[in-house]
Amino acid sequence: MSADLTVGIHDISFATTQFVLTHATLAAHNGTDIGKYHTGIGQRGMSVPAADEDIVTMAAAAAAPIVERHSADRIRTIVFATESSVDQAKAAGIHVHSLLGMPSATRVVELKQACYGGTAALQFAIGLIHRDPSQQVLVIASDVSKYDLDDPGEATQGAAAVAMLVSADPALLRIEEPSGLFTADIMDFWRPNYRATALVDGHESITAYLEAVAGAWKDYAEQGGRALDEFSAFCYHQPFTKMAYKAHRHLLQNCGHEIDEERVTRGIGLTTTYNADVGNSYTASVYLGLAALLDQADDLTGRAIGFLSYGSGSVAEFFGGTVVPGYRERLRTTTHRDAISRRQPIDYARYRELHEHSFPVDGGDHPVPRETTGPYRLAALSGHKRIYEPR
Ligand code: HMG
Repeated sequence: MSADLTVGIHDISFATTQFVLTHATLAAHNGTDIGKYHTGIGQRGMSVPAADEDIVTMAAAAAAPIVERHSADRIRTIVFATESSVDQAKAAGIHVHSLLGMPSATRVVELKQACYGGTAALQFAIGLIHRDPSQQVLVIASDVSKYDLDDPGEATQGAAAVAMLVSADPALLRIEEPSGLFTADIMDFWRPNYRATALVDGHESITAYLEAVAGAWKDYAEQGGRALDEFSAFCYHQPFTKMAYKAHRHLLQNCGHEIDEERVTRGIGLTTTYNADVGNSYTASVYLGLAALLDQADDLTGRAIGFLSYGSGSVAEFFGGTVVPGYRERLRTTTHRDAISRRQPIDYARYRELHEHSFPVDGGDHPVPRETTGPYRLAALSGHKRIYEPR
């Protein structure tokens, strides 16, 4: 292993769902002042999966362009992070591996720690590449966020997958040492195995997130990390985009800075645009923030970006990355914008139908209606097995 080996994100691609429920539609249904959604939590729409979409179909759609561009020849590991898993035993990444026709000489595993799982996957991938820099790791973060109807969390639902190719000598972003870490045993948000929807103490979860920001930053500073002023932008986990603003203000205050709203917006504004339209994508959210930043910002070459990943329960990590020269030629800006703009708006009744939909559990043959126009679909449940197919 060479001392000057750089490892990081070589490619990034995201996918989301067929449908979108706008907050204007939700507000018209439940009588909420739209200002609470648009300004109060900073959300405009939430991605809603079609009946034949789930974390696997979104993940395959996000990863396919990466495998197409780079081939699977050097990808020996797929790490799939999710907290909306479709099976208690089999890793969802094996379905993706199969849909994308990847070589059998691949290790595939699924990781979970609420929204933090994608960052764990990225950090573990970096460790694997330090062991053998000729290999690449496909990291996938894919989630569907679902709360009960009429729960305060309902307006923060969403769904998306981000796929990242992690490699030596990356084309987009070098990930730096050290990381600042924080864990606290807290029940701010959780989902018991028998529930399809999450449980949350909304206001406690915000406090827990802010404590984790301070804790992860403290450790980052103690580990000899960069000074706050060295970062040009910050990507936060975004359960709703206003949470990133709360978190960044908290970090600035924690570091003894006066709150200057222009500075806050400069630091995080561009990272929130995709999340505002997609909603909470749990493990994918912080990397949707990175995609939005890289896709929209003026040239960031050589600039440092800070990341704060938070997963309820809770685990947080702060780390930095440096943007690589030439990164702009490798971006997928048009595809990313299309993924958001191609979604079909649905009315409240259709949303409710999809929200309440559940599959039979009798082990019979149950074809799933054709709804998605995305590249992969859940075709059927048969003998308790999920059958996926290219569309
Ligand atoms: P709520 O309690 O209904 O809303 O739900 P609220 O009354 O707190 O209002 C929200 C904001 O809108 C407030 O602003 C209001 O003032 C403002 P703030 O005081 O926060 O700055 N507001 C308005 N603004 C303009 N015009 C108006 C108006 N009305 C009110 N007319 C809550 C909010 C976040 C609690 C809820 O959405 C919820 O429970 N969400 C789910 C939990 C969550 O997202 N927690 C975030 C931290 S935990 C986390 O990030 C982890 C997570 O992603 C899971 C994981 O790790 O896996 C969730």
